[in-house]
Amino acid sequence: MFATRQISSIAKRAFSTSTSSNAAKVAVLGAAGGIGQPLSLLLKQSSLISHLSLYDIVNTPGVAADLSHINSDSKVSGHVPDNNGLKEALTGCDVVVIPAGVPRKPGMTRDDLFNTNASIVRDLAKACAEHCPKAHILVIANPVNSTVPIVAEVFKKAGVFDPKRLFGVTTLDVVRASRFVSEVKKVSTEDAKITVIGGHSGVTIVPLLSQSGHSFTEEEVKALTHRIQFGGDEVVKAKNGTGSATLSMAFAGARFTNSLLEATVAGKKNIVEPTFVKSDIFAKEGVEYFATNVELGPNGVEKIHPVGKVNQYEQGLIDAAVPELKGNIAKGKAFINKA
Ligand code: NAD
Ligand code: LMR
Repeated sequence: MFATRQISSIAKRAFSTSTSSNAAKVAVLGAAGGIGQPLSLLLKQSSLISHLSLYDIVNTPGVAADLSHINSDSKVSGHVPDNNGLKEALTGCDVVVIPAGVPRKPGMTRDDLFNTNASIVRDLAKACAEHCPKAHILVIANPVNSTVPIVAEVFKKAGVFDPKRLFGVTTLDVVRASRFVSEVKKVSTEDAKITVIGGHSGVTIVPLLSQSGHSFTEEEVKALTHRIQFGGDEVVKAKNGTGSATLSMAFAGARFTNSLLEATVAGKKNIVEPTFVKSDIFAKEGVEYFATNVELGPNGVEKIHPVGKVNQYEQGLIDAAVPELKGNIAKGKAFINKA
C-alpha cells in the first residue's frame, strides 16, 4: 500500500503523463531480475525519465515490450549482449542503476557473493566508463561495501572517476528502519525517520535511534538495532533459497533514483538521502567510503552530512563497523588493482 507521504510523492509522479523536457535517460543493468523488473516498473512511472534503457544477459526484450505499453511518456528499450547491446543501452545515459548479480541463499553472507558479483560489476563498470563516463552510477549489487569501491577503481583506471557521481544504494536500510520503528512505537512511518549510517551488511549497518526523537527502552534499542542490521536475512530466510529482498528493494531503489532525478533533472533543493559514497568522515581510520545522509544536487553529491550526536551504544556500533568496512573496501579495491 502507498501509505506514506514519501511514497505518495513517487505515486504522484507515477500517474503524471507529461515527461519533463530535460528528462533523463536511465539504464537498469540486470533489468530482467527479481529487483530489475519491479524497479523498472516503478521507474517507468517517472516523468523525469525520457528513456528507460533495460539491459540484462537474458529476457530484456520481453520485459521492455511489456513495460513499453504503459502510457507514461518515456520510451523503453530492451538490450541483451548481442549486437553491441550494452553499448547501445549505455550511450547517452544520465543515470545507471546496477542490480545485476546473484542474490544470497540462507546461510550466506553478502561477502559470500563477492566471487560472482565482483566480476559482473567490474565488467559493467568498464562499459559505463567507456560509454557513459559522466553518468551517475547507483550500485545495488552486493556486497555494496565492496562493489562501490570496485566501480570507483574501474573509473579511476579509465581516468573518468567523479566521486560525486557514484552511490551505493543503502536506502532499503532506512526504509526498513522506518517501518520497524513505526511498528514498535505505533506511529506513522512519516513520524519514524531513522538515520542509518555505515555500510550495507550486518554490523556495518548502524542505526542512530537516539536521533529519531523517540524514546526507547534498552531492550527496544537492542532488538530494533539487530532487526535493522539483519533485516535482509529475515527476507532471505523467508524466501527459503529463492532469493533475497526484491520488491522492497525495488521500492527503495526507485526512491533513491527519483530523489537523484529531482535534484539533477528537476533542480529541486534540499533533497537528502542516505547513501554509501566516498567520504572523509572516517578517512583518518582508513575508511574511504561511508554512508550518511547526503544532500543531492545538480552534480550528484552536494553535501555530506556529518554523523551528528551519538550515544555510547551507537559509538560502540560505529567502532564495530569501522574495521569491517575497511576490510570490505580494501577487498573491492584489491580486486581491481591486483597484478
Ligand atoms: P536476480 O538473480 O533475481 O537478478 C539478477 C539479474 O542480474 C538477473 O536477471 C541476471 O540475468 C542479471 N545479470 C547477471 N549477470 C549480468 C551481467 N553481466 N549483466 C547484466 N545482467 C546480469 O537477483 P536480485 O534479487 O535482483 O538481486 C540482484 C542483486 O542485488 C544481488 O546481488 C543482491 O544481493 C542485491 N541486493 C542489494 C540490495 C541493497 O540493499 N543494495 C537489496 C537487495 C538485493
Ligand atoms: C538486503 O538488505 O535485503 C539485501 O542486501 C539483500 C540481502 O542479501 O540481504
